Amino acid sequence: MRLTTLISAISAGAITCAAISVPIYIQPVTVPETAPALLAEIAYDAPEDPLAIPAAVQPEVASYEPPELPEEARLVRIGVYNSKAKHWESSTTVLSVDNFSKGYSPHFVLNLDANGKDILGVSCRGVRVDAGYTRDFGPQAALTVAGPGKQPDLNKPVVLSPEGKKVVPEEKTFLQKYWWVFAIGMFLMMSGGGDQK
Ligand SMILES: *[C@@H]1O[C@H](CO)[C@@H](O)[C@H](O)[C@H]1NC(C)=O
Repeated sequence: MRLTTLISAISAGAITCAAISVPIYIQPVTVPETAPALLAEIAYDAPEDPLAIPAAVQPEVASYEPPELPEEARLVRIGVYNSKAKHWESSTTVLSVDNFSKGYSPHFVLNLDANGKDILGVSCRGVRVDAGYTRDFGPQAALTVAGPGKQPDLNKPVVLSPEGKKVVPEEKTFLQKYWWVFAIGMFLMMSGGGDQK
């Protein structure tokens, strides 16, 4: 049984999460007449809460086919491709064909939008497979979620009192802050002002 079928079968019983299978296609950039070809399928359960990504959602590379590219291809682009409508459904990422050479294993990263729904893009890097590495040598996948952009630093928040009035923190008066200086001065004056006589 293929992994995707297995995942669909499992999640058919679950109400909250649906299995998503993302087709990743590859196309040489420098040889544009070559049609995009299926490179990999990445499957994961639809996240209920996008904030739970990446910890709670573990994508699997359900299938991977090392690409067969024209000899002259140097750069390729990858992305989510709709083979029926024949258009890219995510942005594409350009990388060098060397990432798919022998001795390298592709590591995919799916970048989801802040809602965890739409796939903004896919990136991939060939990671060198170390001889002697017995595990984690196959194609791998991870998810990231595009966080909300940095918020502008605005002025201090307006504090409202329970009646809805703006609360202005009271500025202490000079006297309130430095009463002790006057107290000492007063004490010195009353005790005769030191050696002034
Ligand atoms: C993968 O592609 C990137 C972008 O073209 C390149 O910088 C990098 O060297 C490539 N990695 C390998 C292992 O070829």
